[in-house]
Amino acid sequence: MNISNIKSKFPVFKKNPNLVFLDTAASALKVDEMIDATNNCYTNEYANIHRGNYELSANLTKKFEDARKKVANFLNVSQSNIIFVKSATEGVNLISHCMSKEYLKDGDEIILSYLEHHANLIPWHLTGKKIKIVPLGLNEISEINYDELNDKINLKTKLITLTHMSNVTGSITNIDNVKDIAKTNDIPLLLDGCQFAPHKKVDLKDIDPDFYVFSAHKMYGPSGLGVLYMKDKWIDEFSPYQGGGQMIHDVDIDKSTYASGYEKFEAGTPPIGPVIGFSSSLNFMNEVDPNNIYDHEMKIHDYAYEKLSKFNNIKIYGSNKNKGAIISFNIEGVHNADLGAMLDKKNIAIRTGHHCCQPLMKHFNVTGTSRVSFGVYNTKDDVDYLVDSIDEIIKILL
Ligand code: ALA
Repeated sequence: MNISNIKSKFPVFKKNPNLVFLDTAASALKVDEMIDATNNCYTNEYANIHRGNYELSANLTKKFEDARKKVANFLNVSQSNIIFVKSATEGVNLISHCMSKEYLKDGDEIILSYLEHHANLIPWHLTGKKIKIVPLGLNEISEINYDELNDKINLKTKLITLTHMSNVTGSITNIDNVKDIAKTNDIPLLLDGCQFAPHKKVDLKDIDPDFYVFSAHKMYGPSGLGVLYMKDKWIDEFSPYQGGGQMIHDVDIDKSTYASGYEKFEAGTPPIGPVIGFSSSLNFMNEVDPNNIYDHEMKIHDYAYEKLSKFNNIKIYGSNKNKGAIISFNIEGVHNADLGAMLDKKNIAIRTGHHCCQPLMKHFNVTGTSRVSFGVYNTKDDVDYLVDSIDEIIKILL
């Protein structure tokens, strides 16, 4: 598929052709085939799945399970390790809940980094156990300081949990630096792939983490759906996260036994429409090819980075070369919220604030930043318009 005219696949641009959307890290715009598939599901195909003894239900059950297979293929793993949840956030909460019941004890330690989104931090505050959070520091380019890992691991370390790509700086975690140490010390590894998975090929057979989470809505797909990859060992070991329909083996009035495998974690009617829609988002991403998406976005990113670097009153946070297409910055003397509001008047959407990363903001000694993040539909013209608009706003405000 030719990326140069890809905007035509995003219906929002028909209504608002001049929209410059630079907030894909928060949520991506929606691709036509995902919208059509979701619409068709509810219009023509809908019935509850896994429970209906009739054709409509059987057909949609098959499509739903085919979608699970597609997600598994996208990640290069088996479908029996794919659990559908409502968000990546729910995925991390599921792991932290299950770990607190059967694995974590008072005094245990969890290693993470200053780049973590609150969704990969607060669930570890909420375990109900006295867990010590051991953060890895950041080096001068705001990349994780991997050298600290060996020193921070000890017999109490029960988990290493890291973002695969920062939602603030775009820094990509060097998994090779982490996975061998995790394996040698027999410590499980959780990766938050929310920012990485929409932009670059993910090969979980190669990375081999214990857990991997991401959200469909950042991948040109629907909101209300997250994916949790979990290794067999943990699927077998953990008890259910929630009780309800579909996750059972046998139920009496005073006790129940549970399904084995991923079904154990999918209580209740699942997000049927979102899963069907997401399957079409993955068709789109596969057709473009995640590595082409990355190359395209990084061309736009590099162009923007160079132009923004030329302003002597703009400070950019993070300068790791191994990164994705996100730039966070502040303009000296201009509050990021004011910049965001003024850009909005020019039909440019960016995110401002702490980006759900307050520890990182504290590390940078700021309360927030402006952030531009790119998707497959962005162009160099978007960057030119952004930079000209910033120039104009600086002249008005300073
Ligand atoms: N995690 C999303 C962001 O970074 C919402 O904006």
